[in-house]
Amino acid sequence: MDGLDTLKAKYLTAVANAADESALEEVRVAALGKKGEISAMMATLGKMEPDARKAAGAMLNVLKDEIDAALRARKSGLADAALDERLRTEWLDVTLPGRPRPRGTIHPVSQVMEELTAIFADMGFAVAEGPQVESDWYNFDALNIPPEHPARQEHDTFFMHRAPGDDRPPHVLRTHTSPVQIRAMTEQGAPIRVIAPGRVYRMDMDQTHTPMFHQVEGLAIDRDISMANLKWVLEEFCRAYFEVPSVELRFRASHFPFTEPSAEVDIRCSWEGGQLKIGQGDKWMEILGSGMVHPKVLQAAGVDPAQWQGFAFGMGIDRIAMLKYGIPDLRAFFESDLRWLRHYGFAALDMPDLPGGLSR
Ligand code: DAH
Repeated sequence: MDGLDTLKAKYLTAVANAADESALEEVRVAALGKKGEISAMMATLGKMEPDARKAAGAMLNVLKDEIDAALRARKSGLADAALDERLRTEWLDVTLPGRPRPRGTIHPVSQVMEELTAIFADMGFAVAEGPQVESDWYNFDALNIPPEHPARQEHDTFFMHRAPGDDRPPHVLRTHTSPVQIRAMTEQGAPIRVIAPGRVYRMDMDQTHTPMFHQVEGLAIDRDISMANLKWVLEEFCRAYFEVPSVELRFRASHFPFTEPSAEVDIRCSWEGGQLKIGQGDKWMEILGSGMVHPKVLQAAGVDPAQWQGFAFGMGIDRIAMLKYGIPDLRAFFESDLRWLRHYGFAALDMPDLPGGLSR
């Protein structure tokens, strides 16, 4: 075995000169890899006489260990240097002041939707959704509003176009969230407790009407649900939503095709000095429509009215947002005026919840 010293000097120099981990790996492969120089010499041992083999084998092993040790030492040296370099360049001044509050705000409609979702979730209501482009069956027929019913005209419906020659009834932009009752019952059956907040559309525009606005639908179906349950749920909701100790509601007989009996609900309030106060005073303000779900509506959604009954209600979200947060003009909700949004918007990271307080 000649030339081992030369070999040793060659590889130790190469190790010392390797500039990074990949250069170091090349040195390792050239020396100790399967086809490396040292490995090739090991392979010749088999052909030697036993004594010579023993001596040469021992020397080769020593050389191998030396190169291996040098490789390891250099590798950890390179890693330390790399870490030092990172620590030097990725330095962070933790004494810098925090970033100011984000400039975007949560729109009052989104805020109120979060608030009502939190309140109704606490009473066991899940959130259901449906499409905004709806078939006339879901928007009207299934809710006991047949084609000739006057309620269809009252809804000022937006109709979608059909292709020429296609004379099926056109789809509509849903005029209320009530069709979600049908979808939710068809999908989940009874018993069921859901609310459905969302966008609705009617051809109307003045200080208190916009062609798109928001409603929340409520639906509770079980074996023995009555108007008394409806009244309690609505009172609980109004108390929590308006963040007052007590409220008083008044049920006025009314008519909706999809409920029987039907009631419009007023809340006691005062407007003294132009300031709305909920829960006191001698004025009444209408806030929603409601009633016991009509048997035909249950039937349309595949729920047997002989076994199941319950209540439904529908409420304008924009309107209750205006009342709670003192916003005078509905149209401004949808004008995307930054000054308005900064004034009436809510901090982006405050999620309303019941224990933490809804509006803070
Ligand atoms: N869908 C009705 C509307 O848009 C509101 C409504 C009234 C919904 C009574 C209901 C209800 O679920 O029971 O005017």
